[in-house]
Amino acid sequence: MEKKNLDWANIGFGYHQTDLRYVSNYKDGAWDEGTLTPDATITLNECAGVLQYAQTVFEGLKAYTTVDGHIVTFRPDLNAERMESSAKRLEMPVFPKERFVDAIIQTVKANAAYVPPYGSGATLYIRPYMFGTNPVIGVKPASEYQFRVFTTPVGPYFKEGANPIVIKVSDFDRAAPHGTGHIKAGLNYAMSLHAIVTAHAEGFEENMYLDAATRTKVEETGGANFIFITKDNKLVTPKSDSILPSITRRSIVYVAKEYLGMEVEERPVYFDEVKDFAECGLCGTAAVISPVGKINDHGHEICFPSGMEAMGPVTKKLYDTLTGIQMGLIEAPEGWIQVIE
Ligand code: PLP
Ligand code: COI
Repeated sequence: MEKKNLDWANIGFGYHQTDLRYVSNYKDGAWDEGTLTPDATITLNECAGVLQYAQTVFEGLKAYTTVDGHIVTFRPDLNAERMESSAKRLEMPVFPKERFVDAIIQTVKANAAYVPPYGSGATLYIRPYMFGTNPVIGVKPASEYQFRVFTTPVGPYFKEGANPIVIKVSDFDRAAPHGTGHIKAGLNYAMSLHAIVTAHAEGFEENMYLDAATRTKVEETGGANFIFITKDNKLVTPKSDSILPSITRRSIVYVAKEYLGMEVEERPVYFDEVKDFAECGLCGTAAVISPVGKINDHGHEICFPSGMEAMGPVTKKLYDTLTGIQMGLIEAPEGWIQVIE
């Protein structure tokens, strides 16, 4: 199959329309059989649940070309499970796990020409999502829904690529205790837009959100979880009920323990201890592992010893091992790699 002639190395993280997307509709209590369509547009009633009360959830994962030329995705079953918990929290029907994985496979196969070649630095980002489609004016869940999956080739999420970024401690809260921070709902991202625009205007790449109740604990950024490396090479990562359970972070924890023999602490992380860590990174599907060189706390800079020149040595080992597994250079744990073709 001939690849599209795109400038893979400079593609950035944006929307580039691909050929086919998957669509399934839910009505009268059941999902239809689903289909691939070339139509990238959606026509909705003006009063659709998603438009009035933001009833929408989504996922994000990637397809990779491995060193031996296969197209694979990484742990799509976990995206299906997380979308199930997101849907339940917003009173939406569940799109069954086997069908979710099948929809991913169908959509990636149909757009195989857009899966960037091995070693190009780009990947095919996959965006499954679901939203309420029928008119809703009293505050209640919709009764009809659409599930879709589209793909778009992407490069690094941050313009710095794998180089360290500078972030700021946000004065805005991302998620309330007992709220929706642990699910992937569009509403969490709508409320983060003012905070990210503000951070960008001030010259920062991202926000570090603290816990809304006490503002003493590290939560996450707008689109990634945190990992920290201690001076004695332990991996520390925040545990909180109001952060998204990142599949990348869960995979890094496993890789750190089982592949690199590291000690790992998943626990509340107080902002006061951040200054004592040796390395800091953001992890997620889009972010992969993006190193953080500095955190600006209201004008006071926390500078990690790993500096602004390159990824810290332990972060680099985690990055190389995780991406090595994704690209087929390192043997993956059972069930992590879904071969598409
Ligand atoms: N946290 C937030 C708020 C996110 O949007 C994402 C991206 O999906 C993540 C963390 C990372 O999650 P994952 O590793 O499953 O992509
Ligand atoms: C992802 O990493 O898949 C996300 O959804 C995060 C978003 C900031 C692009």
